Order: sequence, then structure tokens, then C-alpha cells
Amino acid sequence: MAPTILVTGGAGYIGSHTVLQLLLRDFRVVVVDNLYNSSETSVQRVKELATQSGRNLSFHKLDLRDGPALEKLFLSTRFDAVIHFAGLKAVGESVQKPLLYFDNNINGTISLLKVMANHGCKKLVFSSSATVYGWPEKVPCTEESPLVATSPYGRTKLVIEEMCRDQYCADPEWKIILLRYFNPVGAHPSGYIGEDPHGIPNNLMPFVQQVAVGRRSALTVYGTDYSTNDGTGVRDYIHVVDLADGHIAALHKLDESSIGCREYNLGTGKGTSVLEMVKAFEKASGKKIPLVMSGRRPGDAEMVYAAIEKAARELKWKPKYGIEEMCRDQWNWASKNPYGYGSPRNNH
Ligand code: NAD
Ligand code: UFG
Repeated sequence: MAPTILVTGGAGYIGSHTVLQLLLRDFRVVVVDNLYNSSETSVQRVKELATQSGRNLSFHKLDLRDGPALEKLFLSTRFDAVIHFAGLKAVGESVQKPLLYFDNNINGTISLLKVMANHGCKKLVFSSSATVYGWPEKVPCTEESPLVATSPYGRTKLVIEEMCRDQYCADPEWKIILLRYFNPVGAHPSGYIGEDPHGIPNNLMPFVQQVAVGRRSALTVYGTDYSTNDGTGVRDYIHVVDLADGHIAALHKLDESSIGCREYNLGTGKGTSVLEMVKAFEKASGKKIPLVMSGRRPGDAEMVYAAIEKAARELKWKPKYGIEEMCRDQWNWASKNPYGYGSPRNNH
């Protein structure tokens, strides 16, 4: 029988792309999501893209903090492993509403781990983030670089990583992989699924995409005086389909004996500045992106990119796409779905 994977937050941006890759590789997938930051349409579209394998996907609208509902799900289905994406991710909002983030991200994870433990499901892949490296003293960031929280959001990632390490120490039968994502961008090449943030986008590429389709007038460039080639911030952008494939590699790793609790960076190992990214998007879309040069955004690091040798060596995973493909696929999604999964009236 094909392994059955529980995917929390599977209606969201990274989750939906990962669910599709899982289905295409013949896994059975159960998605739970409270749809706080997503729409069930993404699940429906993944089902369609997966064609025949779409029948191996089921969806439950459920909040992870609802222990009894999770318990009921685990009673009805035996899961081979869990991929845990569900969480809130807006850095700025987390500074305004720290308790919302601690409650949702940390309590949601505790609730999930408790039910997994009750049912002897001890294989977990967790969505951590490059945010755990803060403003790194040295780049590239390796998995051994110092960890620091620079926002309540980042603190939730650090706390959950520590919880996972503690859980493994308490019960060495657990196998846990903590994936530290760098900057996921782009969309599935079909243009049928992609990122659809509610409200004003915080992140660079969703904002650029909304300028390109005429929903916003200009991109504000936060910081032009960094010690980088052109003065703008440098990040490690990774195609969301490469990132999704990294989860399949991690699931295979969980089949090895005694892996313990391990961390892996998922990035490309290459840094790209804001202006370089805008230029690549303009080329891919044929659209001019008007810019407003502005001061630095509080809390932003100058330059962040990943060392990816550990993932390449141990997960046998390497990214396939560069920024050209990331921008091509981002534009394909944006031009086909200028209002994401919604209608103009639902998006501001
Ligand atoms: P997303 O918001 O698109 O997806 C997260 C999903 O989780 C959403 O569908 C949301 O409705 C759901 N969710 C949130 N809280 C829930 C709860 N309590 N119960 C059930 N469902 C819940 O975000 P994404 O970009 O796909 O990110 C997925 C994960 O990856 C998150 O944990 C995020 O912190 C992490 N991450 C994202 C990035 C990024 O830049 N996108 C970078 C690093 C790490
Ligand atoms: N930027 C702009 N204008 C914008 C948005 C961003 O100039 O409107 C710049 C930022 O200053 C930064 C770069 O574009 O130099 C990337 O910014 P993002 O907000 O897209 O990404 P960050 O690296 O700041 O943070 C993101 C997520 C974090 C996550 C981190 C690493 O928001 O949650 O990637 O994965 F931790």
C-alpha cells in the first residue's frame, strides 16, 4: 500500500505545491487546514492537476489546536508520516500580535505532536525558516550557524525546533527533519496554483506580481545603502517546486534507521539582490515595475543565503531552477490569476 501522509497547512502556498508532488509520486495525502490564510480552491486545483492520482487526496477543514478533531482523524486513518506546514508567517504581524503567533504556531504544534505520539506516528517533517539565522554574521548560513529570534514569528520557529529535539531525546523512536526554507517564490509551471496572500503582501515577489498586474502602483525598495553590489538586500530565492521536491527527499530520509532529529537548509546557495530580482521579473513579464526607493525595513538582514551541501549530501536533493524560471512561473500564475484564487472584490 502507498504510504499515507498527513499534510497540515496543505491548502497554503508551499503546502499545495508539495501535495501535488506527493500525489504525482503516488503517495496518499490527507490535508488538514483551517483556511485562515488559504482557500479550498487550491486543494481542488491540485486534485485536478494530479489527474488520476487526485483521488488519493482528501481534505479536512480543521484547526490544529482542536485536539479532539485531530484525535478523531488519527483514529480513522493510519498515517505513515506528517508534513507540518500549518502556521502563521507574517513577521510584522507577529510583532503586533505575539500571543496570536505563540498560540497558533506553538499550541498548534503541541496539539499535533501529542496526537501523533498517542497513535505511534513518529515521523515528522517541519517547516522551519532561514529566519532562525537572524542577521547572519557569516554567509552562507550553514546548519551550524548561530540561531537567534528577531521576531515573535522567528521565536515560534526556534521554540518548535527545540520542542522537536526534546521530543526525540525523550523518545528516540521519533524521526524528525527540520527544513529551513530560504525564500520560496514562483509557482507551478501550469500557472494553476501559486501564492495568494490575503491583504497587502509583505514579501517581495507577491508585491512585484501585484504591481505587474496593475493592483499596486509601485514597489517600495526597502534599503539602498546595504554593503551589497547594488545597495539592496540579498536573499536566496528558491523555486517553490524545488522546495516541494525537498519534502519528498526528506520523507525518503525518514525511512532510514535512526536519523534522529536533523536540520537541513533548503535554498539554492545563491544570493540575488532586490534590483536583480526586479530586473529578472521585468524580463520574464515584459512589464515595467515602477520603483520607489526607501529606507531600510526594520529587522531586515543585509545578506542571507544558504549552504546547501548538507541537503545535497544527505537528502540527495538539489534545486533545478534559477531565477529566470522562478520569474517566468510567477508571471505565468499572476497573469492567469491576477486576483489569485479570489475575485477582485475579495482582495484589497
Ligand atoms: P501559507 O499561509 O500559504 O500556508 C500555511 C497554511 O496553514 C495556510 O493554509 C493556513 O490556513 C494554515 N494554518 C495556519 N494555522 C493553522 C492552524 N492552526 N490549523 C490549521 N491550519 C492552519 O504559508 P506558506 O508560505 O505555505 O508557509 C508554510 C510554512 O512554511 C509555514 O509554517 C511558514 O512559516 C513556513 N515558511 C514559509 C516561508 C515563506 O516565505 N513562504 C519561509 C520560511 C518558512
Ligand atoms: N523587499 C522590498 N520591498 C518589499 C518587500 C521586500 O524591497 O515590498 C525586500 C526586503 O527588504 C528584502 C527582500 O526584498 O531585502 C526580501 O524580502 P521578503 O520580505 O520577500 O523576504 P525576507 O527574507 O525578509 O523574509 C522571508 C519571510 C520570512 C522568512 C524568510 C526566510 O517573510 O518569514 O523569508 O525564509 F523567515
